[in-house]
Amino acid sequence: MCGIVGYIGEKRCTPILLHGLKNLEYRGYDSAGIAILENHSIQIQKEKGRVANLESLVNPLCLQGTVGIAHTRWATHGKPSHVNSHPHLDSDSCFAVVHNGIIENYKVLREFLEEEGYTFSSKTDTEVIPNLIHYYYTLQKETSISAFLQAVSSTCQRLEGSYAILAIGKDFPGIEIAVKKDSPLVIGKGNKEFYIASDMPAILEYTRDFYFLEENEMALIEKERIAFFDANLKKHEKLLTSIPFDALSSTKRGYEDFMLKEIYEQPEAIRRTIANRIQFGKPIDFSDISFSKKELTHLHQIYIVACGTAMHAGFVGKQIIEKLCHIPTHVEIASEFRYGSPFLSSHTLCIFVSQSGETADTIAGLRLAKEKGAKTLAISNVIGSSITREADQSIYTYAGPEIAVASTKAYTCQIALLCLFALYLSELRKTEKVEQIEDLKRELFELPEKLEEILQKHELLQNIANQVYQETDMFFLGRGIDYYVALEGSLKLKEISYLHSEAYPAGELKHGPIALIEEGTIVIGILTQDALLSKTISNLQEVITRGAKVIAITMAELPQDLFEFVFKIPTTNSYFSPLLSIVPLQLLSYYVAKEKNLDVDKPRNLAKSVTVE
Ligand code: G6P
Repeated sequence: MCGIVGYIGEKRCTPILLHGLKNLEYRGYDSAGIAILENHSIQIQKEKGRVANLESLVNPLCLQGTVGIAHTRWATHGKPSHVNSHPHLDSDSCFAVVHNGIIENYKVLREFLEEEGYTFSSKTDTEVIPNLIHYYYTLQKETSISAFLQAVSSTCQRLEGSYAILAIGKDFPGIEIAVKKDSPLVIGKGNKEFYIASDMPAILEYTRDFYFLEENEMALIEKERIAFFDANLKKHEKLLTSIPFDALSSTKRGYEDFMLKEIYEQPEAIRRTIANRIQFGKPIDFSDISFSKKELTHLHQIYIVACGTAMHAGFVGKQIIEKLCHIPTHVEIASEFRYGSPFLSSHTLCIFVSQSGETADTIAGLRLAKEKGAKTLAISNVIGSSITREADQSIYTYAGPEIAVASTKAYTCQIALLCLFALYLSELRKTEKVEQIEDLKRELFELPEKLEEILQKHELLQNIANQVYQETDMFFLGRGIDYYVALEGSLKLKEISYLHSEAYPAGELKHGPIALIEEGTIVIGILTQDALLSKTISNLQEVITRGAKVIAITMAELPQDLFEFVFKIPTTNSYFSPLLSIVPLQLLSYYVAKEKNLDVDKPRNLAKSVTVE
């Protein structure tokens, strides 16, 4: 979703801004633009489409400025077009602004400004921001930096909704002002320079030292100094945080696409996520969580709140927590949870799962849970992300940067961490025998190797993809934990190959959806649960009788003649099977998208990090 990059220092900023925007391309966007301060004027270049389009328009020789802001836009208000792209100027071209988020009261503000004589050229909500800054700036009748700062502050007080804003003014050649509410903004410190971005990956190659703006916090940035203010413009000090981050892992390393690379990185990513916590013969190590033993043993219920793939990981976590720890566990879509009336208390643990740690709805759910007195735990892949800063406690997946929009390694790492957490709670609550927990630890430890075995069979999935890529509909069926994998498999296929698919609990099909099964319909059956095997086979037989071609993903010996294809995965404990059974489905989606010649890493309309609700 929208991305912001800014620079202020001694270097020509155009290449830095364009490069930063390219680093953010994975987030999903439909137009891009930059604004540079030069000779007391603001030079803007912007265009619909990719950053490469913008790059071809920008003549770097003409733009010498060392202060600039840039943006990739994911359209919300107003279709993708030149005029709707950011940066936006006020009607007098004095201030330029880039903005992430949504200004919910923009219509009222626009009417107010129009009455004051301001004119608008775009259909965006953002354009009210530079105009409001201009309005409040001129009210003050002085041309000082503090007047600029005051104008931004007064503007923010009028805005409802979410925003990360970076502003420059034509009469302020050495200044940028940054402010945020419900949308992230980080400021990287270099040598006599600052880099500003909505996400760290945009600027990681320049610095590891960051300031994370808090809610309603404002920064006045000059090349050699930075000052922080609260919403009332009261100045305060702020700590610089150093982030260990492997910028190299944000490159494709020889793989054709990031998604393929990330699928192949899963064994290593899971090892990194679990290795330091497992010690055989000793309790699982979650010493980084400081909830007391008493607090955790007295939990009455758990909520897992997340969006998209992270929510699918949550479903798997629910099954394992309920079975191993005997704690009722609910999984909630964050965008519903935030407006619901959940029964939360100090005996409730709310777990917020988010790869990016920046998903707007998940953050809002976290705030609701805190308000209602629940204990909150973040599971994220990004150290220092908003969710981890706001939750009571945080634990991390060590998947490394995930660039492809469709999540793969973050999902399996989230499941691995939830499995470990379930084992940890079970040890504390003594709900399972010590030997059983030790066996499960060993099983989990051996999983990455089994996952490697699956990856070696990628050609089988390439062949299946070659046979099914022209289909228009597919079904994914499973029971129990397999159903949750079906949901994720179906989501992957939709996301990157634009092939319509549905996931159903296998037993539910005959209550309606079976009407859609025709001669030749492709159905993927997931069968990893011994106890449910014969039930799922019966359900698959029902669709086969009606003409469906079934591809089975299984650990069991299945009758080959019944199925179109049987893909065997290595055996593991049924709790952990999703960590294996999802991998062929990820690869299948990938190869279907490749057969269709689609942009696997940047599927249409999607964003990696959804920072608006
Ligand atoms: C978007 C992404 C998905 C992701 C979801 C939640 O929809 O395209 O891949 O699962 O957001 O993101 P999060 O960062 O909170 O895990």
